[in-house]
Amino acid sequence: MREIAYKIGQREIKIVIGVKSSALVDQLKGRKILIRSKRVEMPFDFDAEYVVDDGEGAKNLENVLEIIRIMKSAGLGRSDFVVAVGGGTVMDVAGFAASIYMRGVGLVNVPTTILGMVDAGMGGKNAINFEGVKNLLGTFYQPGLIIDELNFLSTLPQDEYITGLAEVIKYGITLDKDLYDYMSSNFESLKSRDLAKVEEIVYRSTENKMKIVGEDELDNKGIRIVLNYGHTVGHALEAGSNFSIPHGKAVSVGMVCESKVAEELGAVEEGVVEDVLWLLQLYGLPISVDQLKVKVDRHIALNALVGDKKRVGGEILMPVPVRIGEWTKFKVPLETLQGLVVQCLE
Ligand SMILES: NC(=O)c1ccc[n+]([C@@H]2O[C@H](COP(=O)([O-])OP(=O)(O)OC[C@H]3O[C@@H](n4cnc5c(N)ncnc54)[C@H](O)[C@@H]3O)[C@@H](O)[C@H]2O)c1
Repeated sequence: MREIAYKIGQREIKIVIGVKSSALVDQLKGRKILIRSKRVEMPFDFDAEYVVDDGEGAKNLENVLEIIRIMKSAGLGRSDFVVAVGGGTVMDVAGFAASIYMRGVGLVNVPTTILGMVDAGMGGKNAINFEGVKNLLGTFYQPGLIIDELNFLSTLPQDEYITGLAEVIKYGITLDKDLYDYMSSNFESLKSRDLAKVEEIVYRSTENKMKIVGEDELDNKGIRIVLNYGHTVGHALEAGSNFSIPHGKAVSVGMVCESKVAEELGAVEEGVVEDVLWLLQLYGLPISVDQLKVKVDRHIALNALVGDKKRVGGEILMPVPVRIGEWTKFKVPLETLQGLVVQCLE
């Protein structure tokens, strides 16, 4: 088990990674409202609970209001806790509710998917979808404690597990060549969820993400944008499929497409696209829209690019890997990007 402390702004954040780490929830001093995925059993005591019918459709205002009603009727105060137990969707919706109730109550994230452990559970961003726009409403709000209980992974379907590894590969490609190589050379044991190896990649992902978050908590210094590699096109694909593509798979295809765009425009070294393709394919992650086996509405996908948060005027700022482990950002005129993304959609 590993325990790491980070300081983000004025906040102390503790992250615990390992088997049996979830026992820590019982040590919290205060009332606890559990917001949990319907897929996981609850090992903790709690004062009230809300079970989320999770998945992308759960990131809506109705769920936020229901959680707030439960907090109010349980008499939750500012020194009490919301404990979010589930994948990225549960933590997004619970984090948003926790951040606006009484201008913020204690938040503990207990991710139960690998994607939640390596990405969604930390960093302080939360969001819900609104009127077909992904992550339109959200806040920055740091959880004080994050518990990556690896035992939760035992019930996670293999496809979900592999899907979550796309975000680990993202850190490897953009920030950490050693992690890229580790993912490559430990493929068999990671695929079969050797927990010691899984703990290592959760730890390395945590270090990579928290370093970036520490440098640019509010995403206004142009550093945190690196975490969005693959997400401009990924979000467009999610929108074009009416959010039926799992996030990690959309990001996987997004990383390939964005790297191709960057290579085409001469923004990255030759060979980067092959390196991106190699590791994603090793894990059986999708590298083309075709492999997603879901209908993607081209018009909606291209329109989603217009609404991208990284758009400034007629240009979109995109992070891309120059070579494995190093990244840069470059500006692409929206129309050029749309033209090149059309090729990825074919
Ligand atoms: N806020 C952030 O910084 C951030 C970062 C990355 C992703 N996200 C968001 O996270 C979401 C994706 O997260 P996700 O991939 O965890 O999706 P998810 O929450 O939909 O979970 C995936 C599936 O796994 C099931 N599940 C969860 N835990 C399980 C377990 N232990 N055993 C069996 N089944 C389990 C869920 O019921 C669901 O069907 C997206 O909405 C994305 O936008 C947010």
